[in-house]
Amino acid sequence: TERTLILAFESSCDETSVAVIENGTKILSNIVATQIDSHQRFGGVVPEVASRYHIEQITKCTDEALEQAAVDYDDLDAVAVTYGPGLVGSLLIGVTAAKVIAWAHDLPLVPVNHMAGHIYAARYVGEFKYPQMALLVSGGHTELVYMPAEHEYQIIGETRDDAAGEAYDKIGRVLGVNYPAGKTIDEWAAKGEDSFHFPRAMEKEENYDFSFSGLKSAFINTVHNADQRGEELNKYDLAASFQQSVIDVLAEKTMRALDDYPVKQLILAGGVAANHGLRARLDHDMKKYHPDVTMLQAPLKLCGDNAAMIGAAGYVNYQHGDRAGLDLNAVPGLMF
Ligand code: KG4
Ligand code: ZN
Repeated sequence: TERTLILAFESSCDETSVAVIENGTKILSNIVATQIDSHQRFGGVVPEVASRYHIEQITKCTDEALEQAAVDYDDLDAVAVTYGPGLVGSLLIGVTAAKVIAWAHDLPLVPVNHMAGHIYAARYVGEFKYPQMALLVSGGHTELVYMPAEHEYQIIGETRDDAAGEAYDKIGRVLGVNYPAGKTIDEWAAKGEDSFHFPRAMEKEENYDFSFSGLKSAFINTVHNADQRGEELNKYDLAASFQQSVIDVLAEKTMRALDDYPVKQLILAGGVAANHGLRARLDHDMKKYHPDVTMLQAPLKLCGDNAAMIGAAGYVNYQHGDRAGLDLNAVPGLMF
């Protein structure tokens, strides 16, 4: 039987994850050890804490991933690993583990861009068609990526300041929500109304860029001013207003990109792609404005960081002949 088995590593931020993927499309195992609890009291990821935690977890995760997949090192065809973008200390743990295994078992080492990985989370819900556009929304990135063909990535627009997820986490902190705040704000938003009408930065500008720091400031000022008046604002309405503003801009810019680029498919991926409001809005807008363009939304469970998505992207890189040597280094600011 012709099957390609890839052992994939992800450790760019605060999840240690190892997966075994068959032919780039079948998850045999996907172990994710999250360290969110260790960072919550700091209100964000502490890089030094993150690297230590990755060191503690990575061999356990590897053993578990192989065991759950019922796969031996001898069965593997390649080792794929995220080498950027992300926190340098965190990335280095995954990169080192992958190198050791590739060296010890004489396997090709396949480097993977974390953001390409996010896109490939959507590969688990359907086949990719090109040309393609991806709306990538995570804690560190917000970008529109045009893919004229497989393995070709062009960023056509991106945030000029905060990433969408970062804005969620920052306004969440003001409302006393634990890091990462996106999921809770999303739940609150469903119970409130857009009564504050926060700004929608750059919504009508003729580009594909985003900006969320003005929205964040408007939100924080509104809450602080109310505090000073001794007034308590409805947290559900605040969440709904913030979220509506984010969704309006993301949807508007994505539709603009689809108007201008000849794509067959839209991909929604990244941690913020788990947002229920955003998923519903894109469903609606795509039917209305681009009924001929198919959409793949990354499955909820694979929106956050995980190695299954790295394995799927790694498989494509492997087929395209991407190989790294044992001198592979972490690249914190890696771009497409
Ligand atoms: O992709 P990801 O797991 O990590 C990065 O590569 O950045 O994204 C994490 C981000 C966090 O900012 C988190 O608050 C946000 O995704 N997030 C959400 C939701 N679930 C997670 N944001 C909005 N709505 C959600 N349901
Ligand atoms: Zn990520």
